[in-house]
Amino acid sequence: MRASKKTLQILDNFWEYCKENQYFNKGYPESASFDYSPLFRFFQFSMNNCGDWRTDSNYALNTFSFEREVIHYFSNLFSLPIEESWGYVTNGGTEGNLFACYIARSLFPTGNLYCSDQTHYSVLKIANLLRINLIEIPSSANGEIRYDLLARSIKEHNDKTPIIFANIGSTMLGAIDNINLIQNALSNLGIPRQNYFLHADAALSGMILPFVDNPNPFNFNDGIDSIAISGHKMIGMPIPCGIVLTRQRFLNTISKHIDYIDSLDHTISGSRNAHSVLMFWYAIQQYSVESWKKRIRHCLNLAKCIESKLNCFNIKTLRNRNSITVAFPKPSENVWKKHCLATTNNWSHLIALPHHQDINCFSGILSDIILDLT
Ligand SMILES: Cc1ncc(COP(=O)(O)O)c(C=O)c1O
Repeated sequence: MRASKKTLQILDNFWEYCKENQYFNKGYPESASFDYSPLFRFFQFSMNNCGDWRTDSNYALNTFSFEREVIHYFSNLFSLPIEESWGYVTNGGTEGNLFACYIARSLFPTGNLYCSDQTHYSVLKIANLLRINLIEIPSSANGEIRYDLLARSIKEHNDKTPIIFANIGSTMLGAIDNINLIQNALSNLGIPRQNYFLHADAALSGMILPFVDNPNPFNFNDGIDSIAISGHKMIGMPIPCGIVLTRQRFLNTISKHIDYIDSLDHTISGSRNAHSVLMFWYAIQQYSVESWKKRIRHCLNLAKCIESKLNCFNIKTLRNRNSITVAFPKPSENVWKKHCLATTNNWSHLIALPHHQDINCFSGILSDIILDLT
């Protein structure tokens, strides 16, 4: 296959555009600090991870052995003993959340799905797809779910098997629902532990909390039943991907042996991206726990600097504990459009990431925001 001159020219133009905008991102949580070039040569192979990495797939060109290591790494990171754990590399946080809700619904077919009004937009779609009744609970000023209203709603619905979708770092405010308080509320309602499902949507903060000194409760030891993270956010990837983890014993309700791939099917997608598995594997070889801690410390310090800078000009900010997201009042449309800032209701935010070397990376955007809001 040879590309025409015109095709090559179009690609060259697009390459220039990408180079120019490589570090555009100050309002979305995608790290642009990565180098996967040693993996480029694998793009000549048609690889596919359909099925379960624990089995020998009949599709020989797969990266199952790498996926095993990746899942073991994340099981450790999220305090789930490997022998009790199962998970896979997804196409992103949304697929991980869908998988978790699919498992939860198969365990508790009549349970409602409870989440806060700060939850990512994909949850509504997931509830619709799975035909689960979604109940949105108001949040408090910092974006955490209102625990009293959650308890009241579960009680009012006389829900004996609720499914709780907790934000472990909400999209706009970086709010972390306190899963200890959620579990206390459920216990006070007399709902035994085995009668509810607690999912942690940790798209961004799943790669922050394991590396801070005083993490908010978020992992399997703390009581969750599943967790989903995005790979292209804090870790940084050229393509969207993610991890979902749950307890192996929950798979029984959805698992099926497929004869023509000679493997077990319990993933949302049939054919699965084997290249992103390699990237995950490569990323975890690159960074030790110490270097992760350093990266996270850098982002948290930078977030603090951004916050102080805005506060100096009497611009109110909201930054939750252990969060790299600095929220502030939504600026005028010309500012948020110019800088590709995410906005919702009255808020906008900046997110400090590993590719932002220091506060100077934000100087242009901060000047525009300060000029606009003061
Ligand atoms: C809290 C939260 N959950 C889920 C998602 C969806 O993740 P993805 O974009 O990887 O599908 C996001 C994305 O921004 C998010 O912020």
